[in-house]
Amino acid sequence: MDIKDQVVLNKIPEHIAVIMDGNGRWARKHGKPRVFGHKNGVQSVREITEAAAEIGVRYLTLYAFSTENWSRPKLEVNALMGLLVETIHKEVDTLNRNNIRLKAIGEFEKLPPKTCEALKEGMEETRDNTHMDLILALNYSSRWEISNAVQNIVSDVIGDKINAEDISESLISNYLATHFMPDPELLIRTSGEKRLSNFLLWQSAYTEFYFTEKMWPEFRKEDFYSAVHEFQNRERRFGKTSDQIV
Ligand code: FPP
Repeated sequence: MDIKDQVVLNKIPEHIAVIMDGNGRWARKHGKPRVFGHKNGVQSVREITEAAAEIGVRYLTLYAFSTENWSRPKLEVNALMGLLVETIHKEVDTLNRNNIRLKAIGEFEKLPPKTCEALKEGMEETRDNTHMDLILALNYSSRWEISNAVQNIVSDVIGDKINAEDISESLISNYLATHFMPDPELLIRTSGEKRLSNFLLWQSAYTEFYFTEKMWPEFRKEDFYSAVHEFQNRERRFGKTSDQIV
């Protein structure tokens, strides 16, 4: 039976997050510049978006550019920014045809003007779509997001909009960039690295992690379905004992 048929359709995670890693190493392995890896990574973005939409994932979040990625060589950063513009322009029609809404989390206003503009246009043109949200984490880091939330909470306490006693886990979640979606049930990281790299730290308190040796440009639909299938066979206890889970 092929792996897609083994995925249980009434147990699909509502939110899957992905750390797309290994573009540079994959390119080097093929004797090419790092940017070649990013270009090929776009095909994986297309496939995984399609795969997620096909099985009914409601939110797919991709870590596309972290606040730390600015320290890469200027040439690489510029290439990534250009690739984003090109990809968004190329894919908006496909997103609309498939009823997918483009969203972004992170300080995307600080991206180069052309990238920010393309992103805003893409979000505007797809805003009424309801089948799946494709969320790009751009100029995102969890510590930035949490610091920003703390600033806004303090400011709302000072401005008498909320009381200090109202600060709860759910209130904090509502001040995060991800406030419009549930926490991810599954987080996939490619390339064999096993860390979170400042991604969704608060939101991943009970997330299941799936690490694969595959580099992002070689990650295909069946790899995505394998991750979902493995997730479906894990026992999620949320602090309880096995016996308490029916
Ligand atoms: C990590 O690989 C990948 C990135 C920092 C960027 C991912 C970007 C894309 C796939 C292209 C455009 C994306 C969209 C959403 C259109 P790495 O460069 O860290 O690889 P390495 O660890 O092997 O160096």
